[in-house]
Amino acid sequence: MKLGVVILAAGKGTRMRSALPKVLHPLAGRPLLGHVLDAAAALGAAKISVVYGHGGAQVPNAFPQVKADWVEQSERLGTGHAVQQAMPAMASMDRVLILYGDVPLIEPETLNRLVDDTAETHLGLLTMALDDPTGYGRIVRDKSNRVLRIVEQKDASSAERAITEVNTGIIVADRACLGDWLGRIGNDNVQREYYLTDVIGLAVADGVAVATTAPETLEEVAGINDRAQLAQLERHYQRGLAEKLMLDGTTLADPTRLDVRGSLICDQDVFLDVNLICEGRVRIGANCRIGPNCYLKDCTLGVGVEVMANSIIDGATVASGARIGPFARLRPASEIGEDCHIGNFVEVKKSRIAAGSKVNHLSYIGDAEIGAGVNVGAGTITCNYDGANKHLTRIGDGAFIGSNTALVAPVTVGAGATIGAGSVINREAPAERLTLTRAQQTTIEGWQRPTKR
Ligand code: UD1
Ligand code: CA
Repeated sequence: MKLGVVILAAGKGTRMRSALPKVLHPLAGRPLLGHVLDAAAALGAAKISVVYGHGGAQVPNAFPQVKADWVEQSERLGTGHAVQQAMPAMASMDRVLILYGDVPLIEPETLNRLVDDTAETHLGLLTMALDDPTGYGRIVRDKSNRVLRIVEQKDASSAERAITEVNTGIIVADRACLGDWLGRIGNDNVQREYYLTDVIGLAVADGVAVATTAPETLEEVAGINDRAQLAQLERHYQRGLAEKLMLDGTTLADPTRLDVRGSLICDQDVFLDVNLICEGRVRIGANCRIGPNCYLKDCTLGVGVEVMANSIIDGATVASGARIGPFARLRPASEIGEDCHIGNFVEVKKSRIAAGSKVNHLSYIGDAEIGAGVNVGAGTITCNYDGANKHLTRIGDGAFIGSNTALVAPVTVGAGATIGAGSVINREAPAERLTLTRAQQTTIEGWQRPTKR
């Protein structure tokens, strides 16, 4: 059985009040449509076709890596018309599943269940019962509880409006039958639209039994129309992620104050304090402690790393036992070795710092190779940029850099060397020796402070 997936994503999203097409608004750092594409991919669909329209090429351009057929619906004439645009792309499929670009949290398990539960017939619907069904298409059944048709809110009688079972919009159908039904729908309704939901009545008239199944949770099938709904669904998603982390052995100081925009993998007994934001792929080793207000992006932390309050780690790796922050900033391509200390107001960029080295206060380390057991004094700066090019600073194992040193790259400090405080080093400082540049200290005899007239 070849399953094709059609994702409807052509709508304008008027209520978002945005220049950005609705399906490109992010949830957990990924566009809404990206979540739906992931769900479709998880089903092992043989083909995925996305119907786009509003926002034009912006929508397909946002997913350069996704293998899908992008079908433009130049006029929004209704959900039935939208699906029709994708039918040529579905020609070699056996069944077609219809999803929505603005219903991002649909679970592949639910979709698999819908596909399996309805395998015996040509049409399956995902429906749900709502206390307040306002706005949704209602599922009309006969006395023996068989589905007869779907009636849209705007076309429904008051008796039909009282029905609480509603259409989620998600449908699976035999491809050939669907093509036939779509060819027969009209737009004789209040909205003058070609309704996908009209295929249900046509199927019933053809003697097809319509099967229904329900989603696990209502959030799975929640569509996003405005930014308030987007925020609600974001919180729901984050809460679920936090629950999962806790069940997997991570302590969260407050599960409502963690945001993961991407993937976060924590080994056992990690402690995450409040207001952590993770982006991209973040991996945290066992027994790490992350202090409050930290930002971690595309980074890997070893075992027992301590990241203190208000630190930023972006594109860096930190080996086991290291201590970062408070107020540290590690930038891309930085590798911090085991048991290193990177302290407050220290910025590290594209540098390797080997085991046990310390840069504890107020420093900039950029384009540097720092050996093991090095002590970099407070206020030390690598002057890596001459205004045109970046240059390397090399510091050997066991060196001691006095406070407020400027290392004018390219420059090398030998192993075990000591640099006197306040030096400007622009030539090689030999190993095991004391090197310093410093104006002589003088005391002016007989000098007196001026007094106020
Ligand atoms: C639709 C269903 C309704 C269901 C509800 C669930 C129809 C006629 N009605 O109503 O039974 O309860 O979803 O949320 O199908 N779209 C296009 N091109 C179009 C029209 C729509 O791509 O020409 C896309 C929209 O971007 C949107 C989705 O299809 O993602 C649903 O369209 P919308 O107009 O929101 O349908 P509803 O009135 O909500
Ligand atoms: Ca809708």
